[in-house]
Amino acid sequence: MPELAYVNGVFCPIDKAVVSIDDRGFQFGDGVYEVIFAYKRKLFLFDQHIKRLRRSLGEIRIDFDTEPLQAIVEEGLRRCELSDVMVYLQVTRGKAPRAHAIPAEITPTVVMTFRPIPELSRAFRERGAKLMTTRETRWANCSVKAITLLPNVLAKSEALRRGFDDAVFIADDGEVRECTSANIFIVNGRRITSPPRTDSVLHGVTQGFLAQCAASLGIACEEAVFDVEALRGADEVFMSSTAVEVLAVTSIDEKPVGLGGVGAQTKRLFDEFRARSRG
Ligand SMILES: Cc1ncc(COP(=O)(O)O)c(C=O)c1O
Repeated sequence: MPELAYVNGVFCPIDKAVVSIDDRGFQFGDGVYEVIFAYKRKLFLFDQHIKRLRRSLGEIRIDFDTEPLQAIVEEGLRRCELSDVMVYLQVTRGKAPRAHAIPAEITPTVVMTFRPIPELSRAFRERGAKLMTTRETRWANCSVKAITLLPNVLAKSEALRRGFDDAVFIADDGEVRECTSANIFIVNGRRITSPPRTDSVLHGVTQGFLAQCAASLGIACEEAVFDVEALRGADEVFMSSTAVEVLAVTSIDEKPVGLGGVGAQTKRLFDEFRARSRG
């Protein structure tokens, strides 16, 4: 089977995978998730993803043992006929007749899919992403990787509809948060800065790994609050996530960032990330 699903203990083709309409993930978005890549079937930064999953589960009070997950994911990697695999892993609170209050007795639902990694084209990487700014309308706990993603979905779709590649959330006081599915960094000289790991942003696994990449390149790496003017005025801007790895941002609201191309430090970090992740 090239693409594969897993639902509560059973592997099956994706189009045969079903969950109940009474699942609280479907009814309330009551669940959390991770997207994990495996290169040549070898899981990349798996422990960091599971650590964040445990934190997300704890924050929304889903009692779930993550210990068996690695063996299940590795079995999925063996069963699917793919080399570079995108593993989507979701844990919802489980199935119960629809009522807001969390039931006393409920068994979490575990869903996984195993699909090919969607590679960004070389042309897109060389052009870089065009971002638009958008108002932060999300909830106060964005550090929880919740499946409830409606503001992200709407902002991304609006960005595409208007000819951008993605949107970056800006709080009402001008503070830069993150993109719809990626963290954001500014580069000034040989220093990279990303918004601090507060409740307002997802604590990116890639963001954490980039601190190591930066250290080995002699690039200073810090977390600090910065506003939209600092974003617009930076030498370089890039996004980071499991999916985009390191992706240059070359314009914001149609105005070029720096010289308008992929910046030198962004390129170095991308090359270092690639070498270490695929190495
Ligand atoms: C809102 C948001 N921020 C940041 C990220 C980057 O996280 P990671 O590097 O762990 O993939 C994601 C990834 O999906 C995301 O959805």
